[in-house]
Formats: sequence, C-alpha cells, structure tokens
Amino acid sequence: MTQSTPLREFIIRPLREEELPALEWDGEYAHFRHLFRQSFEEMQLGQRVMLVATAAGSGVLAGQVFIQFISSDPKYADGASRGYLYALRVKPEYQNRGLGRQLIQAAEEQLRGRAMEVSTIGVAKDNLRAQRLYERMGYEIVGEDPGRWTYVDHHGRLREVNEPSWLMAHVL
Ligand SMILES: CC(C)(COP(=O)(O)OP(=O)(O)OC[C@H]1O[C@@H](n2cnc3c(N)ncnc32)[C@H](O)[C@@H]1OP(=O)(O)O)[C@@H](O)C(=O)NCCC(=O)NCCS
Repeated sequence: MTQSTPLREFIIRPLREEELPALEWDGEYAHFRHLFRQSFEEMQLGQRVMLVATAAGSGVLAGQVFIQFISSDPKYADGASRGYLYALRVKPEYQNRGLGRQLIQAAEEQLRGRAMEVSTIGVAKDNLRAQRLYERMGYEIVGEDPGRWTYVDHHGRLREVNEPSWLMAHVL
C-alpha cells in the first residue's frame, strides 16, 4: 500500500517586497502602510522577519505574523534570548483551520533558529479568543502593558493607539 501525505493547505514564508500592498487587505490595513515598509526595511537588516501564509492553490495571502528580534524594551525582545511575535492575523475566510497556530509555530521556529529561548506576544485584554489560543500553545501572562503608541498613517496623520494588553511568554 502506498502512503500519501496530506496536501499542505498553506505555505508560510517571508514576505516579498512586491507583496507589501497585499498586507493592506483591500484597504482595511492601509493605515499601517508606513509601518509595513519600515518593518520590511528592518527585515532586510536582519532585525525582524515578516512571515506570510499564502493559500497553496491560489497564492492568495491568507495570514501573517511578524517577529521582532530586538526592541527598545528588552522585556519584549532583547536581541539575544528573547523575541517578540506581533501583527498576527488571519483573514476571516481562512480562520478556524489551524492557520493561526501554524503561523505561531513558524514564528517560534525563527526564534529557535537564532538560538533564542523565549517567545513573547502581546494580546489586547479584550481579545479572549487570541489569548485562549496562546494559552493552549504554552504561553502564560507575565506582565501587562498600557498599549499606548503612535504611528503615522498613509495620509501622514499621527494616529494614537490605546489598547491595554497582556504580555505573554513561552519558553521554547
Ligand atoms: C487570532 C487569530 C489569528 C486566530 O487565527 P485562526 O487561524 O483562526 O487560529 P486557529 O485556527 O489556529 O485556532 C482558532 C480556533 O480554531 C480551532 N481550530 C484549530 N485548528 C482547526 C481545524 N483544523 N479545524 C477547525 N478548527 C480548528 C482552534 O481550536 C481554535 O479554537 P478557539 O476558537 O476555541 O480558540 C484570528 O482569529 C485573527 O486573525 N483574529 C483577528 C486579529 C487578532 O485578533 N490577532 C491577534 C492579535 S494578538
């Protein structure tokens, strides 16, 4: 009897420059345009990795997670043993198929590949669904963050974010 391996539904790999517009999801995330470009430039410097998941058949972008290896706040990422996962999202039509979990696992592989020992992730206190997923994957709440930060949107306007969050961590 021949054994067959199940076809992979998604391909997870680093973002290519020409795919930056696809991160905007038909405009929903256009306000992050400058942040996406900045993250891409930092990926080229080896400070971050932007992973995307594409649907195996169509090549459509289905989800993403970004990884930061070094941060101004070492409790998130310290450039040596601790790295930070952020901007995890899966398009609604691809949710509940295990892609969120696969993206986190792929991001953790990026940390292990750099001999990092701890993975951190921030989650809004009202995002119970994401928090539950992280807990099932071994993450525990280790602190909290007021979640206040600013960025410049695609119209050049300063935007303020105020999203009280838990900081969660997982020993790899
Ligand atoms: C949080 C998020 C990334 C999860 O993505 P996802 O692809 O749906 O995640 P998974 O499929 O791996 O797991 C989600 C649920 O599907 C279930 N699931 C996992 N594999 C499954 C499968 N093969 N078939 C059916 N259900 C499955 C899980 O048990 C989980 O159940 P839960 O709702 O009780 O937690 C997604 O909901 C999202 O993008 N939300 C909006 C943005 C966001 O909140 N990002 C997190 C910021 S911190």
